[in-house]
Amino acid sequence: MTASSQPDWTQVRSQFPALAQVIHDRPLIYFDNAATSQKPNAVLDVLQHYYQCDNANVHRGLHELSNRATEAYEGARKKIARYIGAASEEEIIFTRGTTEAINLVAQSWGRKNLRAGDVVLLTEMEHHSNLVPWQIVAEQTGAILKHVPVTDDGLLDLDQLEQLLTEEVKLFSFVHVSNSLGTINPAKELCAKAKAVGALTFLDGAQSAGHMPVDVRDIGCDFYALSGHKMCGPTGIGALWGKKSLLDSMPPWQGGGEMILKVELTRSTYKPVPARFEAGTPDISGAIVLGAAVDYLESLGRDQIWAHDSELTRYALDRLTEVKGLRVLGPPRGQQRGALAAFVMDSAHPHDLVTFANSHGLALRGGHHCTQPLMRRFRVPSTSRASFYFYNTKQEIDAMIEILHEANKFFG
Ligand code: ALA
Repeated sequence: MTASSQPDWTQVRSQFPALAQVIHDRPLIYFDNAATSQKPNAVLDVLQHYYQCDNANVHRGLHELSNRATEAYEGARKKIARYIGAASEEEIIFTRGTTEAINLVAQSWGRKNLRAGDVVLLTEMEHHSNLVPWQIVAEQTGAILKHVPVTDDGLLDLDQLEQLLTEEVKLFSFVHVSNSLGTINPAKELCAKAKAVGALTFLDGAQSAGHMPVDVRDIGCDFYALSGHKMCGPTGIGALWGKKSLLDSMPPWQGGGEMILKVELTRSTYKPVPARFEAGTPDISGAIVLGAAVDYLESLGRDQIWAHDSELTRYALDRLTEVKGLRVLGPPRGQQRGALAAFVMDSAHPHDLVTFANSHGLALRGGHHCTQPLMRRFRVPSTSRASFYFYNTKQEIDAMIEILHEANKFFG
């Protein structure tokens, strides 16, 4: 495969057993990829192999299985470092996902560095996972939370950002690709603006890591987080990337085995990163299988995945204009966006629509998508969301459009 050529997507799709199901007498159309992606055989095989052959605890045994498990676990750390352009694998901390990564930085960096009156800048389009951890640490430290508003087009209001980015801002944490709007924030530009006032930046990569090429050093952020299950890996595993000098300066946030150098009854000393932040037995199989998912995505080609996802999304946005009474939230057609379309329909509440879709074998997501403040901003209680991945097809989008027409007839 050359840099510009595309994989055989039909053949790629056939590697995902979950997609070959019939649901309510219809072929499954899985459009809930922003919530979690399906897994290919190449990834499932690694999970089974690990538990059949290599299962042991890491770092502490000197026996063969423990050595194999440790090698695979630390190998996965290297793969993730390479995947996002980190300077070294020591900058990768395994977490349960993006949510835990944000909580780690809030409780470790935040509690150490934030003082009363300091500002943590967020945006109105954040997932609850990038709001609540900062609310907790603001209560603990007296820091103030401010939020960059969102325009009617679902973009960050950059004029307001200029006003909000003052020297009181110690950290600007924002989503790379919005899970509710599809907006792709100009991460490099925003990080440069934050740096100019001396603020650190945290980029929530939950919706970007599996879809588009990401190079954290080129973007210029200080922290980046990803969730394995949204990128063909397992649930319960993800990663935090941070610049080594920053991670080195941060205290542990959880204590336990494996993160210590020496333990006395009343005090302990801690290992360097990343071990300092990985107390207890980690999710060994999760990390190894996430490494396999990274291998798999790289074998397809990051540019190729992004081009294909974008093509599917453009096609879906065009076709959704044919459905009566349907309004898509987020950037207007023609602007680049993440691989999803969230919408409201005059004829049906999202929960009713998603239930109707399910009865036709179509998996959409309905609700506030963990972005309640954003729903209030757009004066909607919830939306229906179709989110795509490289194994989806235009024929599935055509089928969705037919189901939405049928829903209009049914409810209207
Ligand atoms: N954050 C996930 C979503 O947007 C669960 O659906």
